Amino acid sequence: MSPNFSFNSPPESVLKGSLRPDFHWGYATAATQIEGAWNVDGRGPSIWDTFARIPGKIKDGSTPYDACRSYDFYKEDVALMKSYGVRAYRFSLSWSRIIPLGGRDDPVNEKGIEFYSDLINELLKNDITPFVTLFHWDMPQALEDRYGGMLNQAAYTPDFLRYARLCFERFGDRVKHWITYNEPGVYTLAGYADGVHAPGRSSFRDRNEEGDSSTEPFIVAHTQLVTHARAAKIYREEFKPSQKGMIGITLHGNWSEPWDAEDEADIAAAERAREFEIAWFADPLYGRGEVEYPASMRAQLGDRLPRFTEEEKALMRGSSEFYGMNTYTSFFVRDKKTPPDINDHKGNVDVLDENKQGVSRGAESDTAWLRTSPWGFAKLLRWIWGRYHVPIYMTENGTTAKGETEPSEDILNDTHRIKFFREYLGELAKAVKEDGVDVRSYFAWTFADNWEWAAGYTDRFGLTFIDFNTPEKRRYPKHSATFLREFFGHLIRKD
Ligand code: BGC
Repeated sequence: MSPNFSFNSPPESVLKGSLRPDFHWGYATAATQIEGAWNVDGRGPSIWDTFARIPGKIKDGSTPYDACRSYDFYKEDVALMKSYGVRAYRFSLSWSRIIPLGGRDDPVNEKGIEFYSDLINELLKNDITPFVTLFHWDMPQALEDRYGGMLNQAAYTPDFLRYARLCFERFGDRVKHWITYNEPGVYTLAGYADGVHAPGRSSFRDRNEEGDSSTEPFIVAHTQLVTHARAAKIYREEFKPSQKGMIGITLHGNWSEPWDAEDEADIAAAERAREFEIAWFADPLYGRGEVEYPASMRAQLGDRLPRFTEEEKALMRGSSEFYGMNTYTSFFVRDKKTPPDINDHKGNVDVLDENKQGVSRGAESDTAWLRTSPWGFAKLLRWIWGRYHVPIYMTENGTTAKGETEPSEDILNDTHRIKFFREYLGELAKAVKEDGVDVRSYFAWTFADNWEWAAGYTDRFGLTFIDFNTPEKRRYPKHSATFLREFFGHLIRKD
């Protein structure tokens, strides 16, 4: 049964044509989560290949070794996306597929280059614009072994820059939208503060053998910010004049709302939480005045937060030509009223599902942290636009839904996900139309169910259902894919 959607009554009827004619919309993915072929055609291992083998780290004990087998079926995937009506596709490159050992003097794997080159050509042939992320959390294992990856900024920098330069050289004739890092904050916090993602470091010895949650996250974050800026400088000086593309970074960020909207301490705590989560990265890149981390962070963390050298400061501003925005949900936060813990990264707040009046932050999904909260998304868009005033490229947004266990007619009719997109996109269009927020893209997370990091195959974010039990990972479109095609058809102005 093919779904039928109508946008003829308010609020949607009013939003018709509110997005610019050249609005980019499509799906986002990441190499580790979809490609499979982890040791095929010369690819080297990444830290996730190693981490997934450690017992207890992945919820269902799975590995990403096959994932969706997109390495084998990329042509079919592009065809399916085409049928979904997309104009753009955001994917990431696996560094260790391109340079198996990762380093500046290590050999290049031409087979890896060829794979991405073919994928890019296939997209362009189908009028789908590629948005390419250089780093979506999959550090080559060899670099982690050699010098501790991003903890060693001096050793890491030339390796990352060589990789970035190689990508600009080999793909930049066709790729015009580059993203250096995906969510440096999540890589940092999940990998080095909580130790639940690769490379699995933290202060908690019941969880991780090594690490220091009170210092390492801030070092790793600093490394990402500075190397982002250095890669962007190379692109802008050496490639942009002839290739005419753009480069930016993608940051994560969920909205923090005061638990007690009347309480000054909670109001301040919510702003502090936003600064710890978002402004940590965004202030140095897009802020006004001196290049520095937010004052609230400096006040709590002191010298555990690195200082930008004069040279780094000069690199930072203008290095990201757009604000790449990933967001999923919203939380209520309450001031803790006790001195901050040494391992705190949230701004000394309690994070809650309900506010003081018992109002819930939104309907539950199949993922504990993720609830449908478009009300917070509406505030977040305006907060980011108001504070930074750079064009926003939404690079991820989406949800899981309870009970998606098999590709039956009922389950493919994913009403929870459709409602999520309907409400979030409604807010997005409203922010553009009513407040002039400059949003230029939207990538739904994600094209198909995939390997959801530490959750393994248990969290299904796809708008395509994947039967992981079949050897070819059979794909079944969910109704939400039709919904997005039709809703964007309504929202985007035809000039
Ligand atoms: C990441 C994705 C991830 C998604 C859902 C984002 O933080 O960029 O890789 O699958 O959230 O958890």
